[in-house]
Amino acid sequence: MYIPVVSRSSVIMLHIVLAPLLVTMVMGEGCCFPDAWEGVAFMMVGSVKNKTPHLTKGVVMFHMNYTLGMIVIQGEFLVDGLNKKVNILKDYNKKIKYHISDGKCTKNTLETRIPRCLPENTTLVENTYLGSGTEKVAVKMYSSNVGGLEMNFTVTANGCFPIVAILSGIIPNSQVPVMKVYEHSGSTVGIKDPSVFDIPAICQPAVTMDWDPVSVLHNSDTNMPF
Ligand SMILES: *[C@@H]1O[C@H](CO)[C@@H](O)[C@H](O)[C@H]1NC(C)=O
Ligand SMILES: *[C@@H]1O[C@H](CO)[C@@H](O)[C@H](O)[C@H]1NC(C)=O
Ligand SMILES: *[C@@H]1O[C@H](CO)[C@@H](O)[C@H](O)[C@H]1NC(C)=O
Repeated sequence: MYIPVVSRSSVIMLHIVLAPLLVTMVMGEGCCFPDAWEGVAFMMVGSVKNKTPHLTKGVVMFHMNYTLGMIVIQGEFLVDGLNKKVNILKDYNKKIKYHISDGKCTKNTLETRIPRCLPENTTLVENTYLGSGTEKVAVKMYSSNVGGLEMNFTVTANGCFPIVAILSGIIPNSQVPVMKVYEHSGSTVGIKDPSVFDIPAICQPAVTMDWDPVSVLHNSDTNMPF
């Protein structure tokens, strides 16, 4: 099985992102994603729960259709050293999140609205470029702070496609410290295979759970837009 590791380029990119910035705070203009899009991201999540550190890393595929009100996240993760395949379907109209892994489907309620734009209180930190020469891509760096979670986003200046997102802080109401890093690539407008949004048969009927063992994997905790 392919064990995803965060690529060298992601480390370089993180250095670019984390390099000291000449901060020119401008109130963030609306940065919203295309109506339907998909992409791939390397992700890493570190957290501490009950004094035990947890590390999750992996590759996730995102499928978003805001008209349909759904976000689907398919991932292969290493969760504390164990391989896990996870499929998460979030239906924001029905307010249900389906979580499929280990041949089981569980359901949770989804209270947030579908996040399509960078959060409120986001400020533009810098207009800059990644790469050089003909490979140069104009990007915007944003920073936001929602409920004590600091989030930094680098997106393409043209179209607001995510490139890197870094989040750190304490998840509200849970006192769980968390750090998440996403490095996106290959994002495209449209949906190649609309069947990714079909609720799998294994989920009908599904067990309803009020708690979620791997909740730090889910963006709904922080309502990150991707
Ligand atoms: C945005 O900032 C204002 C003023 O600091 C605050 O009252 C509001 O709750 C913030 N909104 C969010 C979503 O954090
Ligand atoms: C976000 O960027 C600012 C600089 O603009 C930096 O000071 C801060 O540490 C960054 N936060 C995260 C979570 O990367
Ligand atoms: C998104 O969903 C809407 C509503 O079901 C549908 O009409 C549209 O074709 C979908 N978009 C794509 C790109 O699949």
